[in-house]
Amino acid sequence: MATPAPSPSSVPSGVTITVKPNGPFLVQGGARVCDTAGVVIREGAVLALCRCGQSASKPFCDATHGRVGWRS
Ligand code: FES
Repeated sequence: MATPAPSPSSVPSGVTITVKPNGPFLVQGGARVCDTAGVVIREGAVLALCRCGQSASKPFCDATHGRVGWRS
């Protein structure tokens, strides 16, 4: 059973991760992605992380999901 979403007033401001239909995780609000050594490989206000497993630039989305017709 899914947990109901908290009301906006009870959620601290910060990062929001949205699952895009048939697409990536959209990370909004400022985030930093580090490699296994802790080195920052990308940071920004908005990042798209691959959810389909087909990206050539994982962990980032490169829009391959659309080209291959991935559905979820
Ligand atoms: S979700 Fe976009 S390439 Fe995987």
